[in-house]
Amino acid sequence: MTTFIVLLGPPGVGKGTQAKIFSERSGLAHISSGDLFRENIKNQTELGRLAQSYMTRGELVPDDVTIAMIRDRINRPDCAAGAILDGFPRTPAQADALEVMLQEFGGQVDVVPFISGSEEVLVERLSGRWTCRASGHIFNEKFNPPKQAGVCDFDGSELYQRDDDKAETVKRRIQVYLEQTSPLISYYRDHGKLIEIDGMQSIEQVTQALLVALKKH
Ligand code: AP5
Ligand code: MG
Repeated sequence: MTTFIVLLGPPGVGKGTQAKIFSERSGLAHISSGDLFRENIKNQTELGRLAQSYMTRGELVPDDVTIAMIRDRINRPDCAAGAILDGFPRTPAQADALEVMLQEFGGQVDVVPFISGSEEVLVERLSGRWTCRASGHIFNEKFNPPKQAGVCDFDGSELYQRDDDKAETVKRRIQVYLEQTSPLISYYRDHGKLIEIDGMQSIEQVTQALLVALKKH
């Protein structure tokens, strides 16, 4: 038996924040496509160089390389029981590829929490986000501040602001989400897998709403 959860929602709504909390509680692996690309950029791989050219513009990295990267990640041993997918799939072609990948695995996408939020709040959250260099722990100077400014509470590493959190790039990311990713809402609703979560509540309230909805499902 495997459990694969796909977290869907616009940039800045809290997918990474909730995925980290839920992964710690459930023991399921957390797979963030954005974090994998950022790791490749840090390690100056060929994939990192390619991804960076798209990410700095707020555009999606092409499907073929993104799908290949996720296929490799899902085949690692820590995903044997399943995973929480954060930021993948992001296009209908990626969703189709994921179905095929999981079939090979003997699994499927079990449930898709869709976390919703208004554009104004997303922009505010992203402009105050600080991320940890070592393992991607997420803070917000206003809504979830670290104990000491610039230092991660969990591993003491440096906190940084993402290049793509500049106001113009955030606007483009939201536009790309609306054009290319939002069709997945009806795709998963039609498959009976979508559960809707109001992302405009506090971090703790969103976690509670997610846990209740997942239990019901
Ligand atoms: P990615 O890294 O996935 O970015 P994103 O989808 O734009 O989402 P974010 O990480 O910005 O937001 P989030 O929902 O995780 O919010 P978070 O929890 O951090 O992708 C980056 C780029 O990589 C893409 O633009 C693309 O180029 C490329 N890419 C990635 N995947 C791809 C794919 N599949 N295909 C092609 N290209 C791909 O929270 C945000 C802030 O809000 C934080 O400061 C947090 O503390 C705060 N916060 C969270 N929840 C709350 C709350 N309830 N109340 C108050 N504050 C909150
Ligand atoms: Mg994220």
